[in-house]
Formats: sequence, C-alpha cells, structure tokens
Amino acid sequence: MTGTHPLEPAVADRYRDEFLRYLSQTVPGRKELVVTAAHGSTVVGSDGTEYIDLTSGIAVANVGHANPDVVAAVREMVETMTHVNVYGRYVIPAQVDFARELASITPADLDVSFLTNSGAEAIEGALKLGRKASGRPGILAFEGAFHGRTMGALSVTWKEQYRRPFEPLVPGVRFVPFGDLEAAEAAMTDDVGVVIVEPIQGEAGVVIPPDGFLAGLRQLCDDRGAILVFDEVQGGMGRSGRWFSLEHWDVTPDVIVSAKALGGGLPLGAFTARAALMATLLDPPLSHLTTFGGNPVSCAAGLAAIRFIKRNGLVERAAELGTHLATRLDAMVDAGIGVARYRARGLWTAIDLVDPSITNTVVAEAQRRGVLVGSMLHNAATIRIVPPLVIERDQLDRGLDVLADSVVAIAGR
Ligand SMILES: Cc1ncc(COP(=O)(O)O)c(C=O)c1O
Repeated sequence: MTGTHPLEPAVADRYRDEFLRYLSQTVPGRKELVVTAAHGSTVVGSDGTEYIDLTSGIAVANVGHANPDVVAAVREMVETMTHVNVYGRYVIPAQVDFARELASITPADLDVSFLTNSGAEAIEGALKLGRKASGRPGILAFEGAFHGRTMGALSVTWKEQYRRPFEPLVPGVRFVPFGDLEAAEAAMTDDVGVVIVEPIQGEAGVVIPPDGFLAGLRQLCDDRGAILVFDEVQGGMGRSGRWFSLEHWDVTPDVIVSAKALGGGLPLGAFTARAALMATLLDPPLSHLTTFGGNPVSCAAGLAAIRFIKRNGLVERAAELGTHLATRLDAMVDAGIGVARYRARGLWTAIDLVDPSITNTVVAEAQRRGVLVGSMLHNAATIRIVPPLVIERDQLDRGLDVLADSVVAIAGR
C-alpha cells in the first residue's frame, strides 16, 4: 500500500479555496473532502481519514483503486512509450493486445473495437456508425437514459434540464418510455436508423427492464434494418454480475459501448461491433479518428484490468456478493428505518429513501461517518451503492451499517 499523504490542515484549506478559484465549478458549494490517495476500496482524505468507498469513482474502480496489476502495467508502459500516432498509421501492440482481450469478453462475433478516451466519445462514435450504416438519421432513445454530455450523447440523454440550455442538439431523436416495447414499435418510423439503450439504466437508478424488452428491440431493429446500440458504459466489466449487463437476457446488439471501468482506472472507452459493420467507417477513409483514444498506457491498464477480473473471478464475485448485499438491503427495508425499496443486479445497486428530500443529507452524513455513497443524475430520490468488485465482505457490511445509521440519524431528525 502506498503512503496516504496527509496534508497540514492549512494546506488542505488552500486546496479547497484554489479548487473554487481555478477549476470550473459544475456543482455549487465548497467541498469538504480533499482526497490524497485511493487504494482498493478505500479513499483517503487529506487528514488521513480512510473512507470506505461504495462509489468506485462512479463505477470505474471495479478492480479497486490503484490496483497493483494495473499500476505495474502502467509503469512499464509509461517507461516504454506514452503516445505515438494512435489511429491508422502504426500497429501498436498494446492496443492490439487490449482489443483482443476485449473481444474475448464481448458476445458472439462483436470483436472489432474503436477505442476512445471516454464514454461520451464512444457514444458519439456508435451513433455515427449507426447512422452511417443504416443510412437513416432518426434515433430512438429512452426516457430516463443517460449517455453523456457531448452534443450527440446529450441529444439521446433524457433529462430535459441538461439538454435545454444547449439546444438545438442533434435532430431526429425521439424518446419513448423505457421498457415499453409497444411505444418503441410505434416510434420506429422509417427514418429511424439507430436505437440506443442501456440494458439496465444506470443514472435513472438501476432500472431493470421487463423480460422480453431487449429481445423485442432486437427483433424491431432486425425487422426495420436499424442498428441496435447497447450502452454498457456503467453496466459493463462485471458490475452487474456478468461481464456485460446484456447477458442477463442474452440479447446481442449490433454495437456495444464501454468505458468507465474498462481502463482499470485510466481513461479508456470503446465501441465494439462486428467486422462488417465497423468497416463502414472505412468509407470514406479517415471519417472517424481520435488523437489519444486507445493510447498505449490506457490500453496496458485496461488489459491488466480485464485479466485481473478473469484471474480473480470478479464477475462471479460481483454476483455472489451482490446476493449478500441484496439480503442486507432487504433487512434495511424490513427494519422500517426509512429505506423504501432498492433495485440491484450484482454490485450495482440503488436504494430509494421513504423521504426523497433527505437523500443528499444522508449522503453527506454517511461521508461524515466515513463511508462514500453517491446520488444519481436522473433520480434525486436514490442513493447509489457501487463498491469495487474487490471489496471485502466485512468492509461492505461496515459501509452498509454506517449508511443505515446515517438514514436513521437524518430521517429521525
Ligand atoms: C450509461 C452511461 N453512458 C455514458 C456515460 C458517459 O461516460 P463519460 O462520463 O465517460 O463520458 C455515462 C457516465 O456516467 C454513463 O453512465
């Protein structure tokens, strides 16, 4: 374990001030926690306080913060090369090794990837690919969806509050209720070339569709010649107790989008499709490119992360520990302490409080007591629990105890 770098209180305070002064603020308010280290399932504050992390840096640290295998791979690659010309001009073994490994976990023959720096960038690529391959501009997306903040990704993101100030966005997008196949069918007019969906919606609060919904979308796309894109940015890399959340229904899309945990903690995203579909991007040549996407350091980290998950059976572990987590959450609901319900797959969990107005206060209280949980972008009533897949069971239990105590403390005020 590396050092925890405690800071003098005055130095930590200066960072708090300068954070406000020099960094673009997107969430109002002065921040309490100055993070100076993170390892495994622990985040360390500037005063040396160790927090149990039940957020994974929002579903990124699936293999744990500063995973030793990832650190070793990064160190070796940084000393070997950091950046050359990534796309098209040279073969970079680190990139090939990573893409081959990614192909080993994606379903069927979806084994050709375009590598990016982030989830939103991968969504942009997937939308471009879908439009180009189908030859049709219309895009069907779903209420509650979150796909990112760039113009294209924002256009297919549900929450109006995020979209409105930036309009006009990409035209041709229509939203229908998530899980409603009939509405999807009715909205599939001839101009729709792309259907984009999170198999399980993340920011909406881990919303699980009815059985048959994803298979129905597959059928619709097959019947109408549209490209089906699954956004697995949050649900991939073992989070739901499967490599990809789509495996809960065994439906194969035309394009899978990944990011977040894909790079083992480094920035890395991908959109992955069959060779024939991906070949659309060859015509005209250079129609889709990036400078840094799939850089060798991120690829080395991602390769180490996938191999670590395989070697340590973390996908199965997420499923098993998820069952335990669900038992604990059942007990919390039954105890009548102020938790109304929860939704979960594997270690991907959202709980709804009886009183939604106290959600942020409970999150802050849990932090004050040494446990990090998160809120959701599209569901203000919900608390997110997405621990690293490597979290020890007793650490998870301690985290949940603190969360329950925090709910009791705030709800009882
Ligand atoms: C389902 C989903 N898609 C796309 C994104 C965008 O990814 P990024 O923040 O890396 O651009 C996110 C981020 O939270 C996400 O949850």
